[in-house]
Parts: sequence; structure tokens; C-alpha cells
Amino acid sequence: MSAASVDFGLGLRPDHYEEIAANPARVSWFEVLSENYMIAGGKPLYWLDRLRRDYPMAMHGVSLSIGSIDPLDRRYLDELKALADRIEPLWVSDHLCFTGLRGINMHDLFPLPYTEEALAHVADRVMRVQDQLGRRLVLENVSSYVTYVTSELTEWEFIAALAERADCEILLDVNNVYVSAFKHEFDPCASLQAMPPARVRQFHLAGHLNKGTHIIDTHDHPIVSDVWHLYAEAVRLFPGVPTMIERDADIPPYGELLAELDIARDIAARVAGNRAPVAAE
Ligand SMILES: [Fe+2]
Repeated sequence: MSAASVDFGLGLRPDHYEEIAANPARVSWFEVLSENYMIAGGKPLYWLDRLRRDYPMAMHGVSLSIGSIDPLDRRYLDELKALADRIEPLWVSDHLCFTGLRGINMHDLFPLPYTEEALAHVADRVMRVQDQLGRRLVLENVSSYVTYVTSELTEWEFIAALAERADCEILLDVNNVYVSAFKHEFDPCASLQAMPPARVRQFHLAGHLNKGTHIIDTHDHPIVSDVWHLYAEAVRLFPGVPTMIERDADIPPYGELLAELDIARDIAARVAGNRAPVAAE
């Protein structure tokens, strides 16, 4: 599928099912939260099948726990594969993190220590997951609030090395880069510039809550100006990569997300045309 046919997308949220079906609109694809549809039946699967007829979809998970030292959850992977077989997604993504230990899912995305040992461990697990799914995995950089004294690599060095070693792809969350850069005081542009362009499969954009001394990555606000500026740099570095807006709480009317997506479109078009991205000012 060409990048042009899946350029700007939104997260599929139950609040918008009926409006999406009634108003074929300016969205070329949707991202679905995998775990919400890894079920036997019911209304979510009805809407998934109904809307899949009209839109390509990407799968985005939160429970793979690719960085964990627990064994891979074969049952979870079977269910993930069954969903992929059902909707034939554009790609399947999750996060570069661990979500718990000893079989406990804490429903949080904990960053990894960026060590050679962790890199070898995660690369092996990514390759095994890809073998089971029969497709490449796309992994997202998380927002992090802690670092490890044992880390030997930067986050971006780790991600770039993992993508090459495991032959996987990268979901570059521009908001997460901004949040982590704010917390850990690194240059967000340096992080973007380190990503291997051929591996960047998708962008995420989202809003956060800036408390002045710290940022809480809430995904319940519009995208802030600084993140739009960073997005302009991202589309300059990685032209044509599909963009998607993630709103996970305080879901606004569908039209508000469409308007926010138009800002992304405008920035990408202006960058492509060597014009200043005024919407980001
Ligand atoms: Fe994200």
C-alpha cells in the first residue's frame, strides 16, 4: 500500500463509530487498540468489521511487553495474530517497554535500560514475535520519566540498533520524544535525526499536560505548539510517513479531531513545499 493512500489517520474510538460510518470523511486510515478487539464477539467487533470495509486499519497494542524478562505470552500472541488475520492490518505496533513482571500487567509502559544486554534480549524477542505473527513488528518510543544508571546507549541509539538487528520498524511518537526530552533534557531533534529513515513506519501525535516543572503524558489535550514544531522537523526528515493523532481520554467530537488532523496535513504540505509551517507557530 502506498504512503499516499494511508497518509493521515485517527485512532478509532467507540464514541465516533456511528459518525464515521455515517460520514465518510477526510481520514484515510484508522488505528485500533488491539486489546479492545481481541475478544470473541460483540459490539466492538461488529463495528470493527463494519468500518474495516471502508478503511485500512493499523493495529496498536499496549500489552505485548516486549522488553519483559517474563516468557512471551503465547496466548496473547495467538489472539493478536487472530485479530491480524481478521482485519489484515497495515501493520501491527506496540511499545518498546515492559508492562510488568511475573505475569502481572501493571498497564503502564515502563522504559528499558538501554544496555547491550537488553538490546540482545529485546531483539531476540522481537524476532520470535515476528515469526509467530508472520509480519514485521512496529515499536514505539515511550514517554519516560526515569532513566537507569546502567544504560550504555541513548534511547535513540537503542531504537535504531534494535530496528536493524531485529529487522523491525519504528513508530515515532513525536509527542513522546518531546515529553522525554523535556524530562531528561536532551535535544529532541537529535533523537529524530538518529532514526533510520527506512525504518520509520508511522508517526503518532498527541496532547499532554504541562505542569511547568513536569509534563504528564495524558493524551487528553490538543497537540501543543512545541510538538507541532517538532512534527514539522519529523516530516522534513521522514517525508511521506503516515501520521495519526492519538486521543485516549476526554475524547472530543469527531470534527475536532478532523480539524486537528488538518493542521498536520497543512504542516506536512508546507514542509514538502519548502514553506514555513505557519500552523505550528
Ligand atoms: Fe503514541
